[in-house]
Amino acid sequence: MNEKNQKNQILELIKNRRTIRAYDPKPLSQDEIDTIIHGAMRAPTAGNLMMYSIILVADKNLKEKLVKTCDNQPHIAKAPLVLLFLADMQRWWDYFEVSKVKEKCNEIGKEFQTPQESDLLLACCDALIAAQNSVIAAEALGIGSCYIGDIMENYEDHREMFHLPKWVFPITLLCYGYPKGDKNKIPLTTRFPQKFIQFTNKYSRLSEKDFNEMLKDEKRKIVVKEAENMGQQLYLGKLGADYSVEMRRSVKAALKEWLKKD
Ligand SMILES: Cc1cc2nc3c(=O)[nH]c(=O)nc-3n(C[C@H](O)[C@H](O)[C@H](O)COP(=O)(O)O)c2cc1C
Repeated sequence: MNEKNQKNQILELIKNRRTIRAYDPKPLSQDEIDTIIHGAMRAPTAGNLMMYSIILVADKNLKEKLVKTCDNQPHIAKAPLVLLFLADMQRWWDYFEVSKVKEKCNEIGKEFQTPQESDLLLACCDALIAAQNSVIAAEALGIGSCYIGDIMENYEDHREMFHLPKWVFPITLLCYGYPKGDKNKIPLTTRFPQKFIQFTNKYSRLSEKDFNEMLKDEKRKIVVKEAENMGQQLYLGKLGADYSVEMRRSVKAALKEWLKKD
């Protein structure tokens, strides 16, 4: 990286961001909250259709419930600001209804389709890009954040808690707050070497030797008692853990609802 880029404040901010899970309890001002949300809303979206919505979770009981439904993570209830990012196709299909789009399609002999898998993925792209923009906006104010991926679990509970209609899916939850103590004391997490993440022109599958090199600076410890190596640790501790199994069940249920013909 050249010297000019090393001094670039935005690049510095991106390089030094780390997830913050312990917050100073002081509430964020309305101006700070608006800056974070406006940051989200300036994100690019497919066709500028903004296929997402944000719910500010202000209610203490809802936050406490989220702690439980998101795999027992107490920092959710302690965060001064909690935003729920929703992939949202309901808004457009509601508008299409009032705009009599179906009737127009019938008139001109065009099939009227309801949202399908691709629409969900596109709306998730919009919501997640907006979420990350909000993270950077918060960071610029000195406010830390933590994604909660477990919001994809327990779909039925979240649907009821937030009154989510059929074509709205809770893709991520974000907690924000000023870091408690000196955030620079939290070590930056490592990243795999670039060559295992960025390929040129075609995808490369990795060999056992590549994996050994990719994980050579891995700081995560083997903590699952049955695990004999990092692969077993990462499966048993993460992608095969109970919460991942629940997430798979929950997303399947959400997809079934999304695709259900009324
Ligand atoms: C999609 C997604 C889901 C995440 N879910 C959680 C979560 O449920 N709880 C949590 O404490 N951190 C969660 N994180 C934060 C990650 O653990 C964190 O980003 C990762 O360990 C790298 O650390 P860093 O952000 O400090 O670089 C999530 C991050 C992402 C992007």
